[in-house]
Amino acid sequence: MIYLVAGARPNFMKIAPIVWEFRERAFEDFRVIHTGQHYDYEMSQAFFMDLDLAEPDYFLDAGSGTHAAQTARVMTAFEEICLDRRPDIVVVVGDVNSTLAASLTAVKLHIPVAHIEAGLRSFDKTMPEEVNRLLTDHISDILFVTEESGVTNLAREGIDTSRTHLIGNVMIDSLKRILDKTASLDAPEGGYLLATIHRPANVDDIDNLKTILDILTASAQHFPIVFPAHPRTLKKIQEFGLADLFSVRENPEEVLGKPLKPGVISLIPPLGYIQFITYLKNAAGVITDSGGIQSETTYLGVPCLTLRETTEIIVSVEMGTNTLAGTDKEKVLRAVEDISQGAYKQGKIPHLWDGEAGRRIVDTLLLLTTP
Ligand code: UD1
Repeated sequence: MIYLVAGARPNFMKIAPIVWEFRERAFEDFRVIHTGQHYDYEMSQAFFMDLDLAEPDYFLDAGSGTHAAQTARVMTAFEEICLDRRPDIVVVVGDVNSTLAASLTAVKLHIPVAHIEAGLRSFDKTMPEEVNRLLTDHISDILFVTEESGVTNLAREGIDTSRTHLIGNVMIDSLKRILDKTASLDAPEGGYLLATIHRPANVDDIDNLKTILDILTASAQHFPIVFPAHPRTLKKIQEFGLADLFSVRENPEEVLGKPLKPGVISLIPPLGYIQFITYLKNAAGVITDSGGIQSETTYLGVPCLTLRETTEIIVSVEMGTNTLAGTDKEKVLRAVEDISQGAYKQGKIPHLWDGEAGRRIVDTLLLLTTP
């Protein structure tokens, strides 16, 4: 029995290709566990529907809270189902609190753990995700890695190389499959920038959030901006009384198929996966602090300006279309000008980001779990 654990929005597109591959091989000895870290419709169910995933077999209902409280709730609930039906292997993905919670629970029960998206490092331990990545990798038995930098990091940290498998980026499997479904959908018309900001360091502090909004306001002079906001970001914008800076749209449909006005930042609710990818592939560029979007833009060749000082997805900067801009307004504006003049750097698609990562992972998992 294989348990696949997912808890937050960026996890769902990483387990889907594994489920699709199991289905294709008529392999049924697996269960999907949703920890409930994300629970809003747009953050969770919308993704299950868009990714053609059935209802999860278990929903742990962990919800929000402090890091300790959230991690502990996932651990307690997950332990119960591991004890109830002891799986042969637990598969975790990415770097969210649910990833660490599930892997820590499993390893204490002596259940082998496989980590998908292992080895990535930003070398910034103030990010909760970096702590989750480091700890999860060091207690995992099988490490599925997306890019060369991950292999190097794991070897440097003394992890036995026989456990490391460079198999490519499973997110790209989902992206490729979903691109077909975006073909007939509308996006906003004309050139626009897509913005997504949700890191606690960027939105929880009023001064940092104002700095970022100032960067967006200046960038909007070149291109109108569409900003689907994470629930955390929406809450903070309201709490800090900053909503006046936006054209707030309750319904994302309002910006579809319409030419947007320069200077305007349209704040819309979070989008489902298919709709988000439609907006992403048609954007002139992206301004973000997300991890996954740095991978997606690299695959799509869309310019990506990341408002962080570091990234764990090194290949997106070295080979792809990503630029680390921190909160340097001049740097962002220079890049936005380059985008408008067609002078922004061109990228290449990294090795093994080919839509076959799920197949490679399942080959290995089945080899290990089939008697
Ligand atoms: C989590 C991940 C982050 C990932 C992000 C994607 C960790 C440490 N962080 O951050 O790596 O990039 O997901 O979205 O695991 N909320 C809702 N509805 C929801 C979920 C959250 O309103 O469905 C609000 C709650 O107020 C909650 C806050 O968002 O307190 C933060 O949610 P949480 O899961 O703790 O972290 P994210 O910021 O979403």
